[in-house]
Amino acid sequence: MSEPPLLEVTDLDVDFATDHGWERVVNHVSFTVDRGETLGLVGESGSGKSVTCMALTALIPMPPGRVAGGSVRLEGRELIGMPAAELEQVRGAEVANIFQEPMTSLNPAFTVGEQIAEMVRRHKGLSRRAARGRAVEMLDRVGIPNASRRAEEYPHQFSGGMRQRVMIAMAVSCEPKLLIADEPTTALDVTIQAQVLDLLRDMQAELGMSVVFITHDLGVVAHSCDHVVVLYGGRVMEEAPIDELYFRPAHPYTEGLLTAMPQIGPRAGRLASIPGSTPVPSSLPAGCVFNPRCPYVVERCREGEIPLVEVGPGHRSRCVRVSELNLVGTS
Ligand SMILES: Nc1ncnc2c1ncn2[C@@H]1O[C@H](COP(=O)(O)OP(=O)(O)OP(=O)(O)O)[C@@H](O)[C@H]1O
Ligand SMILES: [Mg+2]
Repeated sequence: MSEPPLLEVTDLDVDFATDHGWERVVNHVSFTVDRGETLGLVGESGSGKSVTCMALTALIPMPPGRVAGGSVRLEGRELIGMPAAELEQVRGAEVANIFQEPMTSLNPAFTVGEQIAEMVRRHKGLSRRAARGRAVEMLDRVGIPNASRRAEEYPHQFSGGMRQRVMIAMAVSCEPKLLIADEPTTALDVTIQAQVLDLLRDMQAELGMSVVFITHDLGVVAHSCDHVVVLYGGRVMEEAPIDELYFRPAHPYTEGLLTAMPQIGPRAGRLASIPGSTPVPSSLPAGCVFNPRCPYVVERCREGEIPLVEVGPGHRSRCVRVSELNLVGTS
């Protein structure tokens, strides 16, 4: 029997309670992540990227949220419904998260060295002294100068970019198999952003981790990912290997995102955007959820559930017109 993929997400459904009952914000989302692979999860604000990833290790606040269905398997082990104590071991040691805002993970009341040491003590069973050494080593590896001195400092004593490095150090300190990075560079300026992306790539190569990289920036995806899942209205609209997505997009929504990307070269400076705005879960249209904003919409796009269909190897699209459209990618 072949080995299961590192992560296999199947038909994941997530709801939030509202005044009008349960609202589905993640709808039958499926994807897999292989060992050493980087999967990009892209889509505009509100498309369900963060909720999908939080659901993987039960980080959704319940209530108001609930995982209403589906399966999340890590090396074949089901994480949905796993007892809390067991899940606590998975989190950090096997699957680590980094967030856009480092203070989500860092505690202002402890030095950064203490926090990383505590993490490796808990998950790797190192002695206090060894854990402390490991913390300094990790801070050094993510490029914090004078790591042994800086380990004694508190999060607020670091700049934004350095704090993001500290969070990366903490996340990879236990050598997780999977790192989930939710917009880790969005709050940083462009130069620092590039440095943090390079750092993540280096750490990944060194540790052989898989990464799920969440972003609304297709430029960042091009830099970092092997495979991309495009979310919209809580659904997978397209899934493709990176080159396929850029050169042969198979969904009008992806084409729109690519067109909205800042261009380098002759078209530089012309920043387009997709007309209209992202739907709210309470008022999703019938048929294709993207149809009110789609330039290619026809009557049958407004009816029924649109299936995700295979359009090439590892390439799937949720568009009924995909075979008749000649969508434009980047060149
Ligand atoms: N705690 C919550 N309670 C109610 N609804 C929520 C909650 N968290 C998220 N949602 C809803 O779930 C949907 C998906 O949100 P999510 O945060 O996953 O979007 P996102 O793709 O990560 O967007 P962004 O790019 O802005 O981070 C949104 O409609 C959001 O309003
Ligand atoms: Mg988000």
